[in-house]
Amino acid sequence: MNILLTGGAGYIGSHTFIALREAGFEPVILDNFANSHPVVLERLERITGRPVTLERGDVLDTPWVEAVLRRHQPAGVVHFAGDKAVGESVANPLKYFHNNIGGAVSLLRAMAAVFADGSAPALPTLVFSSSATVYGDPASVPITEDFPRSHTNPYGHSKLVIEDMLSALRVASPAWRIGVLRYFNPAGAHPSGLIGEDPADIPNNLMPYVTQVAVGQRPHVNVFGGDYPTPDGTGVRDYIHVQDLAAGHVAALQALLTKGESFTVNLGTGRGVSVLEAVRAVEKASGRLVPYVIAPRRAGDVAQCYADPSLAKRLLGWEAKHTLEQMCADAWRWQSGNPNGYRG
Ligand code: WQD
Repeated sequence: MNILLTGGAGYIGSHTFIALREAGFEPVILDNFANSHPVVLERLERITGRPVTLERGDVLDTPWVEAVLRRHQPAGVVHFAGDKAVGESVANPLKYFHNNIGGAVSLLRAMAAVFADGSAPALPTLVFSSSATVYGDPASVPITEDFPRSHTNPYGHSKLVIEDMLSALRVASPAWRIGVLRYFNPAGAHPSGLIGEDPADIPNNLMPYVTQVAVGQRPHVNVFGGDYPTPDGTGVRDYIHVQDLAAGHVAALQALLTKGESFTVNLGTGRGVSVLEAVRAVEKASGRLVPYVIAPRRAGDVAQCYADPSLAKRLLGWEAKHTLEQMCADAWRWQSGNPNGYRG
C-alpha cells in the first residue's frame, strides 16, 4: 500500500519513511526541500536498499497535490510538511499561518476532491503531525490528551488550529479517518548514523545544539534558566527517540486502516528529563566535555512538559522503547559522522 508523506524528506518524515518500508508499506515523499535536503533521498536508498519515489513540489499547490494523489492512490497520507521553529514563528507569524494552516487546508481540499468522486480505492485516511505545544503551559504533569489546549506562540497556534480544522472536517464528513499525534520532544537518529536532525542554521532545539557543542562546532550550551521549580532548576521535557516516533506513525496508520476509528494521542515516553541531565547524557555518549553557562530564561518556555503516554498504548499498542542514553548515542553517531549535517 502506498502512503504519501508530505514533508517526508524532513527529520521525522525520513525516519518514518524507513519504518513504513520495514512494515511493508510503500511510502512516497512529497517535499519542496524548504527545510530538508535532497541528500536525504540517497541516504534513504542506502538504508532501505531500494529507490525512493519523490514528488518535488509545494503542498500549497492544491491542483498539483490532487494530481499526486491520483497518481499514487495512497491508502493514507501523513502530513509532516510545515515550519516548526517557535522563536521564528513569533517574529514571522504570517509565514507560519500561511505554510502550516494554508498547507493543511490545501492538502485536505486535494484529498477531499480525490475521495469525493469515488475514484480513490480507499477512504480518506490522514495522520497529522501535531505537537505538545498545543498544551501551552500545563497546570500539572504528566499531561493527558484531555488537558486544556492553548497557545503561547504562532507555531503552537497553527497546530491547534489545524487540530480544530480536522475535528470540523470529521463532523462534516464522518468517513474521514484521522489520527492526530502530539509529539513531545523528538531527539536521536537512525542507528546507521546516515540520517538525523539537521537544523538549517543555529539549532533552536536543545539536543542538536548540545551535540554541536560536543563535536566542537559551538563553544558551550546556553542553559535557558537555572531557577525553574524543577529538581535541578532547569527546564524538564519528554525527549522521545525519533525511532519510537516513527514506530508511532506506523502504529497509527495500521490502526486507522484496520479499525477505522479516529484518535488523538500523545507520543512521549512519560519521563521528564532536565536540560542538565540531557547535557550530561550527551557527555557520556560522546566522551566529550560539554561546557555550559546558565543564561536567562527564554520567552515562552514552560518549566515542565512531559506526557502520560498511556492512551497511545491502549489504542495503538504503542510505547516508547528507547532510553535517553540510546537517544544520545544515536544522535552523537549522526552528528560526529556528519559535522555539517547533509551539507557535507
Ligand atoms: C527544550 C529545553 C529549553 C535550547 C519545541 C516545540 C515543540 C517541538 C520541539 C518542534 C527547554 C532548553 C533549549 C538551548 C536550552 N517542536 N534549551 N538551551 O521548546 O521544549 O519544544 O521544540 O520540533 O513543539 O515547542 O524544545 O529543544 O527548544 O527546548 O536550555 O539552546 O531545553 O529552555 O527547557 P521545546 P527545545
